[in-house]
Formats: sequence, structure tokens, C-alpha cells
Amino acid sequence: RFTMAFAADMLGIKVLVTAAGTYEPIDPVRYIGNRSSGKMGYAIAEAAKKRGAEVILVSGPSALTPPDGVEFIGVESAAEMRDAVMEHFSEADMVIKAAAVADYRVRNVSDQKIKKNDEELNLVLEKNPDILKELGEKKRAGQILVGFAAETQNLLEYAKAKLEKKNLDMIVANDVSRKDAGFNTDTNVVKLLYRNGAIEELPIMTKHKLADELLNRVLKIKY
Ligand code: CTP
Ligand code: CA
Repeated sequence: RFTMAFAADMLGIKVLVTAAGTYEPIDPVRYIGNRSSGKMGYAIAEAAKKRGAEVILVSGPSALTPPDGVEFIGVESAAEMRDAVMEHFSEADMVIKAAAVADYRVRNVSDQKIKKNDEELNLVLEKNPDILKELGEKKRAGQILVGFAAETQNLLEYAKAKLEKKNLDMIVANDVSRKDAGFNTDTNVVKLLYRNGAIEELPIMTKHKLADELLNRVLKIKY
């Protein structure tokens, strides 16, 4: 007897997921990066796909293999991630932005390898576009926008401010100073904040389990 191992409760839904950190080039051989592994975003993409969704995964550099059956778009910099996300935003029913986007990029990227001639090297950084904020401004009725907030202090206060500023439906507040949560861990401990002010604390769980828990809640918001 054949039994369904999962509920295909996302059939007909198109999900855009971003994952991993971005690389901001300094010169042809160097970049500024961050500690994001991509595990959370890839787990969300995989879970949504298994539940029947059509999934587009836009990812910064990651050691992970994209889940089977998702449309994968690999990018490096925040600017490239922005372009890929904007290209697919209008067709998405929900966008889940798990990526750790670099806040700044190097102003004058050297086209040759920088030599170690001087005792000091000064790089000027300029602000990257805030992709999620732009999505919040462009969001049409019915589209669901989920962000992550990576914080080392004042978790709820900062996360709430991001939820409002970026016009999100839900934000996943992540205390990245914990050893069992955040960057490059297999588990996560998060609090979920909603537009109506509700806050939900989830227990520690694997990123795969959390991916399904997040999707359950996102579906409840919309369907
Ligand atoms: N984000 C984005 N584009 C950026 C920076 C962040 O889309 N240039 C998204 C992230 O993918 C995440 C959310 O915004 O879903 C929050 O990212 P976070 O780094 O926690 O917040 P920031 O708004 O960048 O603020 P700060 O780093 O100063 O806390
Ligand atoms: Ca940031």
C-alpha cells in the first residue's frame, strides 16, 4: 500500500527563497563575506518543494547542493542577488529571504590583484541596496513576505523594527550569538513576529524541522 509521506499542501504555490551569504569583491582574488552557510534557506527550499510548491532558490556561494527539482540561480554579490530576486518577484506568491546579504560593498573594486606594498590598506565601503525593503515597497496584495533578523542583542526590538520598516508579514528573529542557532549550525532557535504584534517562541529544532514549521505558519497567514 502506498502512503503519502508528506502533505502536498503547496501545490500551485510559487515560492522564491534566498539563501547563504553574499560575496562582495575586493579585487579578482579576494572578497568580503560572512558566516552564513545557506543551511536554513536550502532547508526551506527543499521543504517547500517536497510539499508541492514550485521553488526558485537564489543563493549566494554555498557548499550545499541545491535540492532536487528547484530552479536554482547562483549569485555572488548583493547586487547580483537583487537582480535575480527582482526578476522573479512578480511571479512569486511568497518570498522567504533567509540570505545574509552584505550590507556594504567595496566602492572601488580593483581590477588587478592588490599588492601588499603599503603598511595600511584602506577600503571604502558603500551601502548595498536593501533587497527586502524594496520588495516590501513593491509587494502586491496577497503576496507574502518573510524576512529573517540576525541579531546579537535586543533581538525582539530590532526584529520588530525590521518587520515594520520592510513591510513584512512575518520575521524570523534569530539570536546569532548562540552556539545552537544561526550561522552554520544544524539547529536553530527562533522567535516569530507577526504584523498584528503576536510573538511566538519556538523551541530548538533542526533547520529542516524549522523549515516546515515556518511554511505551516506562512500558509496559515495566506490560505
Ligand atoms: N536583507 C536584504 N538586503 C540587504 C540586507 C538585508 O534583503 N541589503 C534582508 C535579509 O535577507 C533578511 C533581512 O533583510 O531577511 C534582515 O537582514 P539583517 O541583516 O538582519 O537586517 P538589516 O536590515 O540588514 O539591518 P542590520 O544588519 O543593521 O541589523
Ligand atoms: Ca544586515
